[in-house]
Amino acid sequence: MKILQPKVLAFAVAALLPLSVQAHQASITFDASQQGPVINRDIYGQFAEHLGRGIYEGLWVGKDSKIPNTKGFRNDVIAALKEIKVPLVRWPGGCFADEYHWREGIGPQNKRPIKVNTHWGGVEETNAVGTHEFFDLVELLGAEAYINGNLGTGTPQEMAEWLEYMTSDKNSTLANERRANGRDKPFEIAYFGVGNEAWGCGGNMRPEYYSDLYRHYATFLKTPPGKMPKLVASGGDTADTSWTDVLSSQIPLRMMDGISYHFYTLPKNDWKDKGDALNFSQDEWFTTMERTYRMEKYVSDNVAKLDKNDPDGKLGFYVDEWGTWYNPEPDREPGFLYQQNSMRDAVVAAVNFNIFHKHADRVRMTSIAQMVNVLQAMILTDNEKMVLTPTYYVYDMYKVFQDATSIPFTIKTDKYSFEGDNVPAVTASVAKGTDGKLYVALVNLDPTESASVNLHVNGVKASKAVGQILTADQMDAHNSFDNPQQVQPASFSSSLNKLSLPAKSVVVAELVP
Ligand code: AHR
Repeated sequence: MKILQPKVLAFAVAALLPLSVQAHQASITFDASQQGPVINRDIYGQFAEHLGRGIYEGLWVGKDSKIPNTKGFRNDVIAALKEIKVPLVRWPGGCFADEYHWREGIGPQNKRPIKVNTHWGGVEETNAVGTHEFFDLVELLGAEAYINGNLGTGTPQEMAEWLEYMTSDKNSTLANERRANGRDKPFEIAYFGVGNEAWGCGGNMRPEYYSDLYRHYATFLKTPPGKMPKLVASGGDTADTSWTDVLSSQIPLRMMDGISYHFYTLPKNDWKDKGDALNFSQDEWFTTMERTYRMEKYVSDNVAKLDKNDPDGKLGFYVDEWGTWYNPEPDREPGFLYQQNSMRDAVVAAVNFNIFHKHADRVRMTSIAQMVNVLQAMILTDNEKMVLTPTYYVYDMYKVFQDATSIPFTIKTDKYSFEGDNVPAVTASVAKGTDGKLYVALVNLDPTESASVNLHVNGVKASKAVGQILTADQMDAHNSFDNPQQVQPASFSSSLNKLSLPAKSVVVAELVP
């Protein structure tokens, strides 16, 4: 046996120290027999706007493309999205929705008018993807449809007629027009948005004025019995709670099912210089975490307004646009909002899921912006190539939480501090899946320090966590077309005592005896 000299021994001990001494400490306690609200699967919804290469190229390539497709939609992208069980897709916008006239997207594709997409790059919009194609997409995915109506430049008549066109089972002229365009059975719509960002691109309105317009438009939205989608009033954004407050007090509760809300994570909190998707400093990692974690306060503040105006809890709080928004890449069309997606985005996604789960009684639907090639995307494409982003893998790992029953827990955690500011080092979710299994999700927000988590589980025998981990060496580790497997989940197994979360990691695991 080799005897270590005192100096060498001291070095060896010091080398072991960082893990045990520097690791953040967190402890989570719960009783598995307790039940919180169900985590609506629609929290895992997606947004697909006519924007950049999100719809055209990213999803739809047309039936004649050499890229293998079904009804014009790329087979590779559809298969990957089915894997993460996309529950719902919001379409056609966004800002695009308030300039979208549905009649321009029906009938023979070569006869549809070509418009200018005034919001996103001023490109030609062929209307090749319209109502029928959108429903092809959701039906291929096995997802629900969230249609966003045009209140900004459309009339109540146009909105009402679109709904009748899609849902009527009668012999009406509009329903027969749908049949003539190839669809006999009415389409099923889960959610219908009455405008988008009415405070901005949707019309620069005040909430009082929008409330009246909402009442006006929604009055004429009619469907066959039992087919009315959940009606979504377009709410506020960021720290503003006035939209939630005014809408939930000025619009009769019977006329809506939920209020939407938008919040984007900009590392620098500056729309002119948001921060870059890659090659960022530790400073920007921290500010990204600090900004994204504001979602907790923003949701709580808005929910407090709902609790005041809707004490019976009828209304949902729908976060139907969220995610990271970075500077455009220098050699790309800035209006296309294409950005890379790194380990940082994966942590952002998981932090937000844990917040949404905590507020699952009101947060019943969200849709991340956006599904393919736009902002915090699941998938990036380049002609026939496709790459799955770190965010995609977080959606995949978290799919066990879709429709799971949340379990209330307490968490005590160190802070991840940076230059005088801080966020929790660890955030978590606990739930019983629809398969009856007990799941925990854990995120370490710190990019440089590991975290040691003690899980105290009552009400069930559990001694191990077995599942998957997503982590990486570099803060901006990402999957590219040249190196598509840089960030991939790996298997994870640990005892519940001193479960070690590496720096910048996401774990989703089943708790087993
Ligand atoms: O997701 C991109 C845009 O962001 C949407 O069109 C708009 O609603 C929001 O401002």
